[in-house]
Parts: sequence; C-alpha cells; structure tokens
Amino acid sequence: MQAKVVAHRDFSVSKIDDRLYGSFLEHLGRAIYGGIYEPGHPSADEDGFRRDVLDLVKDLNTPCCRYPGGNFVSAYNWEDGIGPRSERPVRLDLAWRTRERNQIGVNEFVDWCKKANTAPMLAVNLGSRGLDAARNFLEYCNHPGGTYWSDLRRKHGWASPHDVKLWCLGNEMDGPWQVGHKSAYEYGRLADETAKAMRGFDPSLELVVCGSSHSDMKTYPDWEATVLTECYDSADYISLHMYFANRERDTLGYLAKAEKLDRYITTVGGVIDYVKAKKRSKKTIGISFDEWNVWYHSNQQDKEILARNEWPDAPHLLEDVYNFEDVLQVGGILNTFIRRSDRVRIACIAQLVNVIAPIMTQDGGPAWRQTIYYPLYFASKYGRGTALRLVVDSPTYDCDEENDVPYLDVSAVHDEEANALSFFIVNRHMTDALDLDARLEGFGAAHVVEQVSIRHDDLNATNTASEPEKVAPVRGGDAKIEDGRLRATLKPLSYNLIRLSV
Ligand code: AHR
Repeated sequence: MQAKVVAHRDFSVSKIDDRLYGSFLEHLGRAIYGGIYEPGHPSADEDGFRRDVLDLVKDLNTPCCRYPGGNFVSAYNWEDGIGPRSERPVRLDLAWRTRERNQIGVNEFVDWCKKANTAPMLAVNLGSRGLDAARNFLEYCNHPGGTYWSDLRRKHGWASPHDVKLWCLGNEMDGPWQVGHKSAYEYGRLADETAKAMRGFDPSLELVVCGSSHSDMKTYPDWEATVLTECYDSADYISLHMYFANRERDTLGYLAKAEKLDRYITTVGGVIDYVKAKKRSKKTIGISFDEWNVWYHSNQQDKEILARNEWPDAPHLLEDVYNFEDVLQVGGILNTFIRRSDRVRIACIAQLVNVIAPIMTQDGGPAWRQTIYYPLYFASKYGRGTALRLVVDSPTYDCDEENDVPYLDVSAVHDEEANALSFFIVNRHMTDALDLDARLEGFGAAHVVEQVSIRHDDLNATNTASEPEKVAPVRGGDAKIEDGRLRATLKPLSYNLIRLSV
C-alpha cells in the first residue's frame, strides 16, 4: 500500500509553543510520594527527591508541569503544604479518598521543578475556595517581600519569589464529581473575578480557565460558550481534557479516537471564534489541553482499592501499565496536537510519574520508562519548531468509531535553526506495510539523519521492573531521499520517527 505526502517549507500551521510537551503531577496515589519524592530511597537527594526519576524526567525535557491537581485541587488548602513539615496537618483528600500528609507543598514542588528543568504551572482551588485564597496563594508565591504572605514565604526559607507565570483557575469545574462543581455561568463569573484579582497583582500572568472534562459531557460545548462569554477578556487559554481507552479490544477503533480529538479541538476553536466575534475582541485565546493520555488499564484495581474505604497514604491508584498498542495511540495524539498547534498551545500529559504516567517506580526499587515514554520523548525532543501543513493522500478505513480514518497518521516539524525536518508517523494498518512517498518542496538538499521505529509482535507487550525495555525504539530502516522525495517502508502497526537535515 502506498501513502503520499507533500511537505512544503512555506506551508505551515504554526510555530509550536514548546509547552505542547508539558506534564502534570497531582497529589494522587504515588505520583508525589513514592514517585518524585521518597526520602530514604537509595537515589534520594538531600531534599528527598528521587534522582533516578529526575533523570528520566529531565530526558523528557518537559517545559512545564501542572500541579497540585486535578480533582485534588478542588478541596485543597495550599497553606497546608507550607511551613515546617512537622507542623503540617494531615488531611483527608476527598477526591481520591486518601490521607494527605502534606510533606510536599508549593515550595518543595518549585524546588523540584528547578531540578527537573521545568516550569511550574499552578492550579488554584475554585471548588471549595475562591478568589481570596487564590490571590493570597499568588502573593505568597510571587511577591518579593514586605507583605504578610511574601514575608511568610521568606520566613519558610524561600527568599526569592517563585515567579510562577502560568496559572489554572480551578480544575474540571464542569464535572459533577468535582468538589464545588458549578454551572457554567457560576464558574465563568468566578473565573473572571479571580482572573481580574490575579491580574491586579501581575497583568502579565497567563491564565487558563476550565473548559470541558471531555467531549462526551452533557454540557459540552455550551459550557465553553457560556464560560468564555463571562471571562473571555480576562483569560488566555481554555483548558480541555480527554482520556482514551480500548475496553472493547478493538485496535482500529481505538486508534481512530485521535480523529475525535481533532473534532473536539475544531469545535472548541469554533466556540472561541464565536465568543471572540461576540466580544468584538482582537485576542484569540488558545487551548491548553492540560490533561490527556490513555487511562483504563487500572480501572478495576482502582475500584477495589477505593471500595476498601481505608483512606490510605499514597495508594497504588491509577497505575496503568501501558502496552505497545498504547505507543501507537500516544503517537497519534501527539500528531494531532502538532497538526493543531495553531489552536493547542499548551498540552500536559496526565500524568508524569506512576499515576497514568510514562515513568513508573517501585517503592525502594527501580524507576523505568513505560512504553508510552518513547513517543513523548521523541516529540518533545524533535517536535520543536514550525508544524507543517501537510497534504496527505492515504488509504483509509471505516470502523464503529469513525469513517475514512487514514492508515497513515503523520505530522512534521521544521526546526529552522537546526535545519532539521522531522516526520512522526504511525502506520495504523494491522497487516500491511505502507510505502511512504513524501515530496519535499522548498527545503533544498535533504539527507536522512536517522530512522527510528517502535514495533512489537504482541500489542499487549509491556515494560516492567524486571523487563524494562521489552518495548523500546530501534534505530535503522530503509528511509532514503530520491529525486527530492522521502521514501520509506513503514511496517504494519508501527510508530516511526524519520529525521532529515535540510
Ligand atoms: O488525571 C486524573 C484525573 O482526571 C484528574 O484528577 C482529573 O482532573 C481528571 O478527571
């Protein structure tokens, strides 16, 4: 089977915001405790942070990390996580029915971000709390000194302000499961007033307001229209979330779900344009897709843990063990974000460590890369620059989910500074290889630098502590340039990265 692509240097989607490769850490399960923080672990540093985890995070080069939730934030008192550790309260976390000891709070998280070469993206609680707690939190974090909250931070040992620029105004406020769930109008008003107060302190902050928790919500997309009508002028981004599952064990249907993601982005883009027109605004707010991933492998185990009603510390919640099939899905999601990077400016994989995460740890034991680590790693490393508007001619398939799903799922990024052109490709065909014929225009002479692929005969193959590299990238392939065309054979059900110098 043949698939044709045209890539023209001047036909671009957008300059990608590096934060498309962001991440997320919530006080949930073993993301924080036993994930990034485990004093007493052989690799722990002087602050109790696991160095083995830090190394894996640094390799991912994630530009921002959202914190502290998620559902957790909607009943969180940020003040519980500051001051001497021994005096911090132990609380019940209503979102995940867990005991929270507050041994990590905002100051320690910011320290961890520095070590991980990432920037904090903080969420304020607009569920059980509101504007007042948010403005105090901001002053504690970002004011240099000489006021009650900033001097308290200094007294706690952090003399310099954290200077956090990116803030989320609540989390999934459309969700009835959320503590302090609100109607779109109630939330839109609160977000607008909170944003105005926060901008009173610093007009240059970047503020994210809550959109839909997923595109099957009953309130979608009216939610976006109402919320944005209330706070368009004070917001910079609207947040979207989406998780993917293959409960039906239908690979082609599963891989087609990236098309639904594309429609979600298109629809919310349309709502943004509609409100922008209504407001006679010159500003186009962006999408912050600040929770996305595959999430279903751990559902049964989670039910059992939660049914015990024991309020444990750092339980093994949401510990999805990813398989090879999920590599293809995550590759497809990232391709969608790259192709839609005109709208999606920020995206955060949910989450980063242990909890539906590319990095897994054992308490007291090793840390390793889950299968989905690799497509994220490659996109984050080589997907910076300008996303190209490709013309794609691929054979397609129909399935229960969608019709006309291309077997060839492809995105391309031109890094002008490095004179590099990278193609990220998933062949969704179950049995047939795709012969790629990509015409390159306007790039001058091109050479293949590297071809990497991820493949496994068993779609259910996983990486575990005892076999951490069962699913891993392999270098090599037949990619070549002939008469200004990139040609390569893409094996059935494979993830591929082809890097060119141009
Ligand atoms: O990432 C896990 C959970 O998914 C988050 O806490 C919540 O925002 C979403 O429903």
